[in-house]
Amino acid sequence: MNVLLLGSGGREHALAWKISASPLLAKLYAAPGNPGIGRVAELVKLDVADHSAVAAFCQEKKIDLVVVGPEGPLVAGIADDLRAWGIRVFGPSKAAARLEGSKGFTKDLCARFNIPTAAYGRFGDLASARAYVEKVGAPIVIKADGLAAGKGVTIAMTSDEANAALEACFDGAFGAAGAEVVVEEYLTGEEASFFCLCDGATALPFGTAQDHKRVGDGDTGPNTGGMGAYSPAPGMTPEMTERTMREIIEPTMRGMAELGAPFAGILFAGLMITDQGPKLIEYNTRFGDPECQVLMMRLKDDLLVLLSAAVDGQLAHMSIRWSDAAALTVVMAARGYPGTPEKGSVIRGLDEAERDGAQIFHAGTAVNGGALVANGGRVLNVTALGKTVGEAQARAYAAIDHIDWPQGFYRHDIGWQAVAREKAGA
Ligand code: AMP
Ligand code: GLY
Repeated sequence: MNVLLLGSGGREHALAWKISASPLLAKLYAAPGNPGIGRVAELVKLDVADHSAVAAFCQEKKIDLVVVGPEGPLVAGIADDLRAWGIRVFGPSKAAARLEGSKGFTKDLCARFNIPTAAYGRFGDLASARAYVEKVGAPIVIKADGLAAGKGVTIAMTSDEANAALEACFDGAFGAAGAEVVVEEYLTGEEASFFCLCDGATALPFGTAQDHKRVGDGDTGPNTGGMGAYSPAPGMTPEMTERTMREIIEPTMRGMAELGAPFAGILFAGLMITDQGPKLIEYNTRFGDPECQVLMMRLKDDLLVLLSAAVDGQLAHMSIRWSDAAALTVVMAARGYPGTPEKGSVIRGLDEAERDGAQIFHAGTAVNGGALVANGGRVLNVTALGKTVGEAQARAYAAIDHIDWPQGFYRHDIGWQAVAREKAGA
């Protein structure tokens, strides 16, 4: 098969790494990719927003499958446009990607199909949103409806904070994404990320993970796209997985089909495991970044076979095998992230780090004058396997010790909850 992978982050490097191990692969292209992806794929300069240009490339290179990494192109309808040209695409249609593209859409789906989630209201103006906050009281959660690069959510511990977040949204802090707002109940419990591979009718569990969203040690500082992750998520016991499938994922699949927007692709459920059981915090319609990196480390099966089966509606006949090992990834970021990261600093020592058994996925890297340099906020994902999360953690941090990049930083405590649990013998 000839495959075109769209995207340029650590998630896409992990996908490229796994796809390139498939005996079915003839040639892998990536647009735009990054230097790490360039080790296993031919990088092509394509404007991913220009769907006709992507389609023309696919025809010229006889591409058998397009794999879409990030949410932006999916919400913009790239899967529909390429399918109209007869090209096979792994990723949901524009209508199905509303599960990520509109928080209000997902909340209404939950209400209609009885899917457990936080109580909520949807508002298009400040006055009615404020009235709802006044009625419900703090703590309360304010969310811009549309895509806001992970920055559109405010956990307000006071009504003043909630009102400030509402004002920011309606003042255009998130552009069109904040023209509508979801205000919802504050949930407490343990969070977990739950993934399913879907073909429109069937959803197959595709692993669990836990990420660390805050930039600083001890879960402090501003939110980021994710500073590290590990898999499996300890809270997702077989019982919790079974309940999540029955109470959340399966009604979503049935509901989307009933709405004429069957979901095919990766469904990423952000869950809160509450006293009453799992509740949906949000859906994403693609792999998580950096959650994908730890999932790919543990996946035993051929990813291309699985993605193809999802595209062809064949998942009912499939099963997926996972390594019993734990995987953990530590994100190395450029100084300044999640604000404005410094670009251009030189990174050395990756070969030594990998020789120690770690897998390094590139995110925001570039090559400048023959040297590897930082070229984004999240730059490297140092990833390792172990019999326990503690062992994977020790290996990942041992690998980081070989990396010579004074301008980079990382969290020192990725996996701390799971490691504490392991030490307590739970
Ligand atoms: P989201 O982008 O919707 O995943 O929200 C980002 C983060 O905010 C989540 O990972 C949670 O930690 C937190 N969060 C979102 N919604 C709620 C909620 N209703 N109650 C408590 N925490 C929430
Ligand atoms: N790491 C969270 C996300 O990919 O949305």
